[in-house]
Formats: sequence, C-alpha cells, structure tokens
Amino acid sequence: MKIAMAAAEAAPFLKTGGLGDVMEALPQALAEEKNMEICVFLPYYKAIKQNQNYPVEEVCNFRMQLSWRDTYVGVLHLKSPRRKLRFYFIDNEDYFGRDSVYGCFDDGERFAFFSKAVLEAMDHMDFRPEIMHCHDWQASLIPLLFHSQYQDRFNGMKTVLTIHNLEYQGWANPSFLGEVLGLGEEYRGTVTCDGGVNFLKTAIVTSDAVTTVSRTYAEEITTPWFGRNLCTILQQEKPKLTGIVNGISMKRFDPSTDSDLTVRFDADSYPEKKAKAKDALRQELGLNRDTNAPILSIVSRLAGHKGIDLLTYIGETLMKDRDVQLVICGSGESQYEQALSDLARRYPGKCAAYIGFHPSLANRIYGGTDIYLMPSRSEPCGLSQLISMRYGAIPVVNSVGGLKDTVEPYNEVTGEGRGFTFQSYNGHDFLGAIDRACDLYWNHPGEWTALVQRNMRLDFSWKQPAEEYLSLYRRLLGQ
Ligand code: GLC
Repeated sequence: MKIAMAAAEAAPFLKTGGLGDVMEALPQALAEEKNMEICVFLPYYKAIKQNQNYPVEEVCNFRMQLSWRDTYVGVLHLKSPRRKLRFYFIDNEDYFGRDSVYGCFDDGERFAFFSKAVLEAMDHMDFRPEIMHCHDWQASLIPLLFHSQYQDRFNGMKTVLTIHNLEYQGWANPSFLGEVLGLGEEYRGTVTCDGGVNFLKTAIVTSDAVTTVSRTYAEEITTPWFGRNLCTILQQEKPKLTGIVNGISMKRFDPSTDSDLTVRFDADSYPEKKAKAKDALRQELGLNRDTNAPILSIVSRLAGHKGIDLLTYIGETLMKDRDVQLVICGSGESQYEQALSDLARRYPGKCAAYIGFHPSLANRIYGGTDIYLMPSRSEPCGLSQLISMRYGAIPVVNSVGGLKDTVEPYNEVTGEGRGFTFQSYNGHDFLGAIDRACDLYWNHPGEWTALVQRNMRLDFSWKQPAEEYLSLYRRLLGQ
C-alpha cells in the first residue's frame, strides 16, 4: 500500500509538540507492516536546512501558481537507505526560511502553499499514493485542493484527516479563497466557518475519513463544550469520525536506556534507583534534599486548555499545607509563566519552575517524579501521561479525552487501575485527586510500588494504533 503523509512537524527534524512525536513514530510503525511504502512531506524550515544531521538530495524543482503568485517549489529527499519510509522536504525560502515555525502573519498562505506543493511534488515525482493522510490544520487544505484540481492526476486516492487538537484550526479572511487558493465561489460553503476560511473545517468536510487521537475525544468533539464552533459540522460528519489512541516510542522513552537521565532504572530496580533519580533531580533544581516528600511535576505548554489555571489556583495550598515538592517545566502564556515563577520564588527548596522548553530536563523530571499532574481542560490524547507511567510516576489527570482512555482510575479495594482522576474541572477536585495519590504514597507503600511497577511494564507501543490506521486505510480502499 502506498501512503503519503503531510504535516507541519516531525521529530527528530523539528518538533514543537505532540504532533512531532506522532509524526516520527506513526510512519515508522506503519513501515514495519508488510508491503508498505510511505512518503512523509514536511516544510523545509530553516532549522532543518541548517542542521548537518539531515543531508538531502534534490528530487526536483518547479514553479507553481498560488492564485496570481508564481512560486518556487524545491523538493528534497532525506538521504537514507530506507526504501519503505522516505522523508521529503518542501523548500521555499520566502515561506520557510525563517526563525519561527508558526505564528507568522501569513501562516495561512504558508501552509496553503505547502499543501498545494505536496500534491504538485507527488505529481512531479510520479508518486501516486492510494491514501493521502493529512495531519492538523496545516495540511488541511490538501483534500479540497485534491478534489478541485488534482482528482484526475491521483485517480481513486482517498484522503484522511487526523485532528491532533481542535484548539488550532487555521483561519484566514474570506478573500483567501480566490486570492490564495485561486478557487471560485462554488467552494465558499465548503471553506467557510464563522464568516472566515477555516482550514480544519475544510478538511473535515472534504476528506474521506476523519480521525482523532483518542476514542473519548472523538465523542467529545461532537458536543458543544469540546467541539465548540465545529461541533455541528462534526456531528454531521460523525459517521466518518473515529478515534485511535496514540502510542509512544518505547525505545525513545525508556528509563533504563535514556541518555538524558543521570540515574537510569527499570521496574525491577524501583524504588531504590528511583530514589537516586529523585535525589539527582532535587540537586539539579535546587530543591531540599533531606526529605521523603513525593515530587509532583508538570511538563507542559503553559496554556489555559492544559489546566494550568487549576494549578495556579491550588499552588499556594499545595505548598503551604502539604508535604510535597513541586516541579514545573514549560513555557506559554505570560500570566501562567509569572504565577508559577512567583510560586517557585516564594517557596524555594519546595517548588522549582523552569520556564522554557528543555527536552532533556523534561526526561529527567519524568525520571525523578512520583506524581505527574495533568489537569487538562481538554486533551485529545496526551503523551506525557504515558511517558510518566513508563518512567515510574503516577498520573493525576482530569478524566477527559485521551486521559480518560489511558488512565483508568485506581481502585483502592481491588488495586486495579493506573492513576488518580477527577471528573469535574475545578481546583478542589484536582486537589482531592492529588491528596488521594499522596495518601497511597505515604500510607500504603507496598500498593504504591506495585502500581508503579505495573504501569512501568505496560505496552504503549505504536503496534496496535498502527494496525488500527491500517485497517482504516483498507476499509477506505475497499480491501
Ligand atoms: C496535540 C494534543 C495532544 C496529542 C498530540 C499528538 O499536541 O494536544 O493531546 O497527544 O497532539 O496527537
């Protein structure tokens, strides 16, 4: 089966969030199945171009019309012996030769260019995929462009959209339809939402299948609270909407081999080695070392929908009235950055905040954490709760989206479950769940250890999700 994937990021080339992790692991997992040929298309950002680790060779270059614009498209291939999985970069200095990846005033135009260039590139390369799999809003114009302009060149190709987060939809002015896409008024209804051009909505209505990254989130987004402006559209398109829970790379996230860790451990060496990892983390972050207090932590984008407002709300109580230590790592909205830095300043030795994105510190935090906090208001899948379980930390989560699907609540009577959950989005319930986790930690160490060790041995690999994607592709192709 021939599959093309398009996305705005993929690790290790460039990653700003969970999408990058998925785009590294999913194509890889699919390529391990029989008879697969996968091409992944990414923008050729400055950061990738300048990185010596990614040698490329040019496949072709050509001019492409984007409405009245005559644009340059370069197609580069990552030099690699792998035949079943190939990475291609779409080059254009104007659009991608910048320091920032997203957040530019012309993001809509940049990713419209990318989307059209992917189709043109495949045509030039004579690559005719059976499935075109688009990820998130940045690749969301591909199904529409395919239907309006490329159908005859990619006869029978089916399109799939995966929504990694409905919070980011891609938006442009109404004039974008003609001015950038060069399409006529007959497509106005297809692209319009709330008066503007909405990229994600466009793909929801034009692709053959829509997936999102957990079963619960797939249900949730058809309700007004989670689905918001797209709720009605998603209800209409519900028959083609499914949820496939993400995995993680079990190799990359392995506390027994992770080179970012100063102390490595596995389920068998828990809790002795974990204690050493905790001590190393305390030392690195300047936390008090003469304590048995559990280390609570959060590694996250500091955004409202990640539930950071709940953390700032209970932060003071947590620091004043509980015998715990708190570690925060992330950057984002300035009110949260300030509130959390302030908390760390007022409770030195007890709370540490690293404001910024620091992947290797993040891994040491997972390794040194007892209780991992994930109070997200919404969470399509979430990878951190999976990583934390693998690194011997127990998750405390709001029971939504992928958190609900992957963190079954701990049952004090039977000892079953994986973590501690709360059901309604408020600080008291969040604190209540933290207290239940701390109670098990302090008062039932045998049960705590058993729970941690069981979680560490769980299989979160991509094998199962890859098979689910594959059967979706087969269904679309009538196989
Ligand atoms: C987004 C979502 C996250 C998901 C990730 C990968 O970052 O917010 O929940 O795990 O995409 O699908």
